[in-house]
Amino acid sequence: MKIDRLFGLTYPIIQGGMANIATAQLAAAVSEAGGLGIIGSGGMNAETLRENIRKCRTLTDKPFGVNLMLMHPQIDELEKVVREEQVSFVTTGAGMPGKYMAGWKAAGITVMPVTSSVMMAKRLQDAGADLIIAEGCESGGHVGEMTTMALIPQMTDALDIPVVAAGGIACGRQMAAAFALGAAGVQMGTVFLTAEECPIHENYKKAVLKARDNDTVVTGRIAGTPVRILKNAMSREYVRKEKQGAGVEELEMYTLGALRRAVFKGDTKTGSLMAGQVCGQLTTVRSAAQIMADIEKEYRETVKKMAAAEEE
Ligand SMILES: Cc1cc2nc3c(=O)[nH]c(=O)nc-3n(C[C@H](O)[C@H](O)[C@H](O)COP(=O)(O)O)c2cc1C
Repeated sequence: MKIDRLFGLTYPIIQGGMANIATAQLAAAVSEAGGLGIIGSGGMNAETLRENIRKCRTLTDKPFGVNLMLMHPQIDELEKVVREEQVSFVTTGAGMPGKYMAGWKAAGITVMPVTSSVMMAKRLQDAGADLIIAEGCESGGHVGEMTTMALIPQMTDALDIPVVAAGGIACGRQMAAAFALGAAGVQMGTVFLTAEECPIHENYKKAVLKARDNDTVVTGRIAGTPVRILKNAMSREYVRKEKQGAGVEELEMYTLGALRRAVFKGDTKTGSLMAGQVCGQLTTVRSAAQIMADIEKEYRETVKKMAAAEEE
């Protein structure tokens, strides 16, 4: 069953948690329009997360979720806030949420870990995950090795719980492809960077809209911290140093605080403008509601066209 029916949504769409970006404003806009909005707690502390959850409730009475990055230094405080505030959905990144699982289940939270490994997904299923968000390396931000196209069928074949596809999805044809691969829904991040309600600096938004197909690069492959960002002066310098064999500490000088520089200051030269490969297909700012309506419309047309082509 698709996640729109499972969770009572209008669209089978989850807005990916994005640290420093997916605040109450964006999550509420997505949920209010019929998707599942997610507050990204990556750049927050317990107090700001609580404020965002409460603000989200003033903006929408629809369900929304929180993304918890498990390597966050204050993860214990953040996950406690999620339970205290009775958030309905949690997505997790960067590790095994095992020790929190029982508490989340007892609180009635739907747990949806993000991973790009089938082995990890199976362990998460055994640990009690309700659904897996399988993310391919086309995506913006931290990435694995597998593409969405190769990953999703292997995930759906291996698991008994629903799989949501993430990475490289920003239009109805891509959503149709995800369903053809066996997904029960899609999670999108990059397309929501271009949403009216997305509170990033306008320089960052403009850079995403201007970017073409080949304008992203993965930094940190050698250091073991691969992140997909838009090419700029920082990424070029980073990759040059990386190829010269620079150590993790030297490389971190480029990335430390770099996402915040992009999001809050609009620094497109030394900032880390995380974005996925779909950036080349995004050219206009739309409301979150319009983005999802456009995707749904194109998805329906695509399915019809495919069925008609079969009968020709
Ligand atoms: C700017 C940016 C920041 C992100 N930050 C996070 C994060 O904090 N936690 C997380 O689990 N995923 C994060 N992601 C991944 C998204 O939640 C989502 O899975 C991904 O963007 C989907 O692929 P797409 O970019 O091709 O749409 C981020 C993605 C982007 C583009």
